[in-house]
Amino acid sequence: MEYFEIIGGKRLSGEVYINGAKNAAVAMLPAALAANDVSVLENLPYIEDVHSLVDSLTKVGAKCEFTDRHTLVIDSRGVRDPLAHYESIKKTRASYYLVGVLLGRFGKAEVAIPGGCNFGSRPIDQHVKGFEALGANIKIEHGMIIAHAQKLVGTNIYLDVVSVGATINIMLAAIYAEGTTVIENAAKEPHVVDTANFLNAMGAQIKGAGTDMIRIVGVKRLHGAEYMIIPDQIEAGTYLIAAAITGGEVTVRNIIPKHMDSISAKLQEMNCKIDVGDDFVKLCVPGKLQSANIKTMTYPGFPTDLQPQMTVLLCVAEGTGIITETIWENRFQYVNELKRLGCHVTVEGRAAVVEGGIQLTGAETYATDLRAGAALVVAGLAAKGRTLVGNVKYIDRGYEELVQKLANLGAQIRRVEIEE
Ligand code: EPZ
Repeated sequence: MEYFEIIGGKRLSGEVYINGAKNAAVAMLPAALAANDVSVLENLPYIEDVHSLVDSLTKVGAKCEFTDRHTLVIDSRGVRDPLAHYESIKKTRASYYLVGVLLGRFGKAEVAIPGGCNFGSRPIDQHVKGFEALGANIKIEHGMIIAHAQKLVGTNIYLDVVSVGATINIMLAAIYAEGTTVIENAAKEPHVVDTANFLNAMGAQIKGAGTDMIRIVGVKRLHGAEYMIIPDQIEAGTYLIAAAITGGEVTVRNIIPKHMDSISAKLQEMNCKIDVGDDFVKLCVPGKLQSANIKTMTYPGFPTDLQPQMTVLLCVAEGTGIITETIWENRFQYVNELKRLGCHVTVEGRAAVVEGGIQLTGAETYATDLRAGAALVVAGLAAKGRTLVGNVKYIDRGYEELVQKLANLGAQIRRVEIEE
């Protein structure tokens, strides 16, 4: 079995180049199928989730070709049979965007219900609500989402829950709908905006992305587009937290600092020194890390995808901190693994009370999902001795060259194969 082996205690320093945003990439790959044409996506992260989705696009008839490690040409003129129920679909939750885009373009879609991380039920009721409001008939049977519509007609949809996935999926289904669709209580995440910008580059008419009201005026046809996706603020935040926990000095480059505001503000509150440039954020820790209270919120609040990593940082900071998870019902499962490293974290419902000032000690641990895996790696960087992190397949889904990037910053980390 593959593990990341980390010998902790090394201070990170230097620069790390941040790749394209996973959660933008996994929305924009299906979005490229909206046009019966050829599109090019640049700055794609070279990660498992992208490769699984490329596999799914190929299986519904698109021709995909990487012209370099981060640039993909997608020819969707061959997409005819919108039946996507292949193994790769189940691997990636974002496969559900195939429903919106195939329903929008062809009036039908049959997609396997995707998998996803194990920190909550991951419902899709708001996606279904939007599709049905547009006039589609949705059935969920035999592990498939089956969508059909004679005609899709624009309407007003008020989301009961602020949902990134539902916002993007309804946007995809509404592109060709007759008339105007308004999504209210929409998600405002940067990857929602990026997806809308890409669709507009293809000729869609979407306004208001980034606010809680998005207006989509239906069009007759789209054309291909060339588009560079935004950098990944969660990857960048993970490296800033890794720098902070080792008392290091690290610059994350090729980012949009605005997307990091809530993360930078919280790290400053914890006594980190943050310098912000046009496309970088630099962090160092002049004194002692101080604990803080954190509440995950929808954008522009503190992102839930950095909650596990921040919990680890609170374990090391001076004082007691409380981290409240308002987005997911059960996103503290990784805490049991943290306890193996000596963390004192008490989970009460959606809040975790974190006792700080702990000297972590290395142990054998297992990732329970993508960001939990990243948190265990961050913990291993600070722990005394050797930490093993198993289930690296979760981490490979969302971080390009994590081991190489951390080693370049001075971490003693490697990927090892250990017989059971
Ligand atoms: C996206 O998931 C991200 N994944 C998640 O990142 C991220 O944690 C999440 O947004 C919140 O920011 C991708 O973009 C691929 P939601 P998504 O719909 O779209 C409830 C990572 O590590 N809800 O915004 O699935 C839901 O239960 C991953 O990169 C409904 O009730 O999240 C949750 O409580 C993990 N009904 C809340 O809304 C629905 O129909 C937010 O979910 C949909 C969602």
